[in-house]
Amino acid sequence: MTNKEIKIAYREYESVSQLDPEEKALVESAIEAMGSAYAPYSKFNVGASVMLEDGEIIKGSNQENAAYPSGLCAERTALFYASASRPEKAMKAIAIAAGQNGALCPNPATPCGACRQVMAQYQTKSGRPMKVILAGAERIWVFDKVDDLLPLIFDSI
Ligand code: THU
Repeated sequence: MTNKEIKIAYREYESVSQLDPEEKALVESAIEAMGSAYAPYSKFNVGASVMLEDGEIIKGSNQENAAYPSGLCAERTALFYASASRPEKAMKAIAIAAGQNGALCPNPATPCGACRQVMAQYQTKSGRPMKVILAGAERIWVFDKVDDLLPLIFDSI
């Protein structure tokens, strides 16, 4: 028997002004994307912006439906749209922002398991690490790769 341990590294920033210009632009885009959320049931607006290898930004937001499971999270809306519209482009980063009544949550919103799995596969498809930036009003967390949010990613098939 061998004991094993997985360590997760991430950076915490106090404000967007401390991010590098590309990260800052991506976070600002995710905050803007919250404005297009269709969330009549939860009233919880989530924005997600994916940055492609050439710097293009693709935005998504959560889209709810009266048949609840038919709705989709902001992250998957953005990731699927990025892959569908720019299939040949690698994704290098995703920023996520969430809030209610137009105000960003104080703490970063952390993506659900399904969105982490989808991020993981697009990271594999991209052949490079995908940075994940989780933006809250009081703190921002930056993970250098999806593995740091989803260790032991399912990639067996
Ligand atoms: N939501 C996201 O958009 N991303 C997540 O990672 C978790 C939750 C959305 C789904 C639903 O529209 C609302 O937030 C409340 O769960």
